[in-house]
Amino acid sequence: MLKGKTVVVGVCGGIAAYKAVELVSRLKKLGADVHVIMTANAVKFVAPLTFRSICHNPVITDMFEEPKMWDIQHVSLAQKADLIVVAPATANIIGKVAGGIADDMLSTTIMAANSPVLFVPAMNDKMYENPIVQGNINRLASLGYLFMEPDTGLMACGTNGKGRFPSPEAIVDYVKGILSKKSDYEGLRILVTAGPTREPIDPVRYISNHSSGKMGYAVAKAALERGAFVKLVTGPVNITPPSGAEVVCVTSAIDMYNEVMKSYESFDVLVMVAAVADYRCASVSESKIKKSGDRFTVELVKNPDIAAELGKVKGDRVLVGFSAETDNLLENAALKLASKNMDMIVANDVTVEGAGFGVDTNIVKFIKRDGSSIDLPIMSKEDVAHRILDEVLSIGKG
Ligand code: PMT
Repeated sequence: MLKGKTVVVGVCGGIAAYKAVELVSRLKKLGADVHVIMTANAVKFVAPLTFRSICHNPVITDMFEEPKMWDIQHVSLAQKADLIVVAPATANIIGKVAGGIADDMLSTTIMAANSPVLFVPAMNDKMYENPIVQGNINRLASLGYLFMEPDTGLMACGTNGKGRFPSPEAIVDYVKGILSKKSDYEGLRILVTAGPTREPIDPVRYISNHSSGKMGYAVAKAALERGAFVKLVTGPVNITPPSGAEVVCVTSAIDMYNEVMKSYESFDVLVMVAAVADYRCASVSESKIKKSGDRFTVELVKNPDIAAELGKVKGDRVLVGFSAETDNLLENAALKLASKNMDMIVANDVTVEGAGFGVDTNIVKFIKRDGSSIDLPIMSKEDVAHRILDEVLSIGKG
């Protein structure tokens, strides 16, 4: 499973260091070439010999050990690694890397790395919640470093809270996920719309819908993970965009239309996940509309249909749309696929539990231009996103 992969495990000084022994053992059993770097404090908890006996490689504990190999080792291991896992990661190592300090073999190797670096924090709950530690984690995460959430429960120091070292099994699953990532979108450019649009009525009111942006953001994230250049045109949502995407925030359907039409030509794949309002107010009041009478009527006019406009000009680009339905799912979705000249439509019945707006899962059917369809069971929006990207590649090749 991990044959041919080089994993560097950085062990820091914390009581959870002994659990890193099992982590190294599991990685080794899966076929990885495992190298261990221990900090000076880590060796106070576990003897380097324990790791050496399991990983069958020298364990590095000191940069200046004789024979003095550090100047090549920190570069060679950093270049050789497919992944560096810092487990347990103390507040100290997180702070050092966030602050750009490289004063021992582990911090130096992390600084010189080309590979992804996964931190597995384990520390007292108050330390973990400390705004300085959280600030360092956020800074590193925004730079592309990966973090596993610690478990919650009883800790060695006697307190109960968030900061426990996750099970070695869970860490290995995470590692497998990172190392098995495909890079089949390298060189491809994908434009994704996400979230709702807001159509103003007056300065304080608008017409919108329940889209949270989760489905569209999942597509953007999956494409980034697989190596694509991603532009995410997003309506107003409360979730954080995946790091690495070019993000353009818009409000109304017209804003979204303008942004998409301005740049679609330079993209290979267009995935329209946004729940775009079909209508906007014929006129928007400049001041807040005052309450009067028992009825109030708003006149609406049609918005441009972004997906339909793209369908007219798409050329060889792959165009994927979504269809949010409450009835006649397949018939309605098939009509949209044809009328908007899409290559594939992802139909979801938004009345079904676990599907559609706001939730972390979706239940979708793919309908393709050739009439074929694929029914998927309930799955996370991330997994749906990857299945969409798999299909897009097969359409592109077809
Ligand atoms: O954001 P989440 O909370 O995760 O919810 C996900 C979702 C339910 C929003 C998503 O799964 C979904 O179904 N998105 C499409 C919603 C929708 O507006 O569907 P529609 O059937 O009205 O539109 C059909 C297609 O045309 C869509 O690709 C839509 O982006 C596009 N469209 C629609 C109207 C318009 N004026 N311009 C468009 O581009």
